[in-house]
Amino acid sequence: MTEQKKKYGFLKIGRIEVENPVLLAPMEDVTDLPYRLICRKLGADIVYSEFIASEGIIRDAKRSKQKMLIDDRERPVALQIFGSNIDAMVKSAQIIEEIGVDFIDINYGCWVKNVVRNNAGAALLKEPDKMVLMTKAVVDAVKVPVTVKTRLGWDKSSIIIVELAKRLENTGIAALSIHCRTRIEAIKGEADWSWIPKIKANISIPVILNGDVKNHKDVKRAFEETGCDGVMIGRAAIGYPFIFREAKHFLDTGEELSPPDISDRIEICLEHLRNEIEFKGLHRGLIEFRKNYSGYLKGLRDSHQIRQKLVVTETYDEIVDILYNYKDYLLSIESSA
Ligand SMILES: Cc1cc2nc3c(=O)[nH]c(=O)nc-3n(C[C@H](O)[C@H](O)[C@H](O)COP(=O)(O)O)c2cc1C
Repeated sequence: MTEQKKKYGFLKIGRIEVENPVLLAPMEDVTDLPYRLICRKLGADIVYSEFIASEGIIRDAKRSKQKMLIDDRERPVALQIFGSNIDAMVKSAQIIEEIGVDFIDINYGCWVKNVVRNNAGAALLKEPDKMVLMTKAVVDAVKVPVTVKTRLGWDKSSIIIVELAKRLENTGIAALSIHCRTRIEAIKGEADWSWIPKIKANISIPVILNGDVKNHKDVKRAFEETGCDGVMIGRAAIGYPFIFREAKHFLDTGEELSPPDISDRIEICLEHLRNEIEFKGLHRGLIEFRKNYSGYLKGLRDSHQIRQKLVVTETYDEIVDILYNYKDYLLSIESSA
């Protein structure tokens, strides 16, 4: 008898329906189109763009335009917007809807100073009435589903998420992602998943857990401990898209996949790099790619020296040489062991 696949969570956002959903978190300068394609290929169920300023979308700014590009191969994909002006948020959502995005996500979680100083991102946690008004205005202005990503509250003495979640649900959003920290905690300390069951008990739309999901075991634990409907992965996916394949396999079969071998890592790393160069041009593509090497080479012998070489290299061919020589070196050690 074949064993039934275990159902840990289920997510419905508009027409999108996913079982045991594992999502790529929105990350500035990381989750651009080239990387989202890689993550989808390796098993991420839904991918999010980096956040895009509503004002930039309206101004038709060059960088915003590039961030708004989507590709049919990456669907389902969400574009994430942020801002402080309700009219600008509405207009930008309408522009994004025209692109044919699967859903729009609103960022009320970004903690960085220049966003919060402009009363956007997590700053709205201090103005929940405005957050609710803004969300309702965006939901009412577009036909595509709208979701929200936010935090527990501004600081530990003002955790408002349980009540806020209900108010946001009443605006008509399709799902809510929670980075289980406060704004003041930024990305420090430990994410507190214990809020997820309390939020879930208060609302009926899907709740997506985010924060400190570091590997496939954490994904399963997050579903089991909190009853969340989906799990969203951020930092652990930087330079390690394999986490999606590992997590999905573990959820579906209960078995652990062996980590990617050196060939797998190098081929995916180079595919990602080629995509970036095609998307951003050689110079910008190479430079902005540098943050990924530590993820792709994580845990491999003597990778530190290789990374040092890679981050100063200025041609694609040299990078290919360095990585293939490194592969030969690792394989020769393996065969002589
Ligand atoms: C480099 C970086 C960029 C980020 N940019 C965004 C963003 O554009 N929008 C957003 O909602 N969150 C952003 N975040 C927050 C992540 O989506 C996520 O909430 C946070 O990293 C916690 O999840 P993790 O522990 O899995 O990394 C960013 C985080 C990092 C590390």
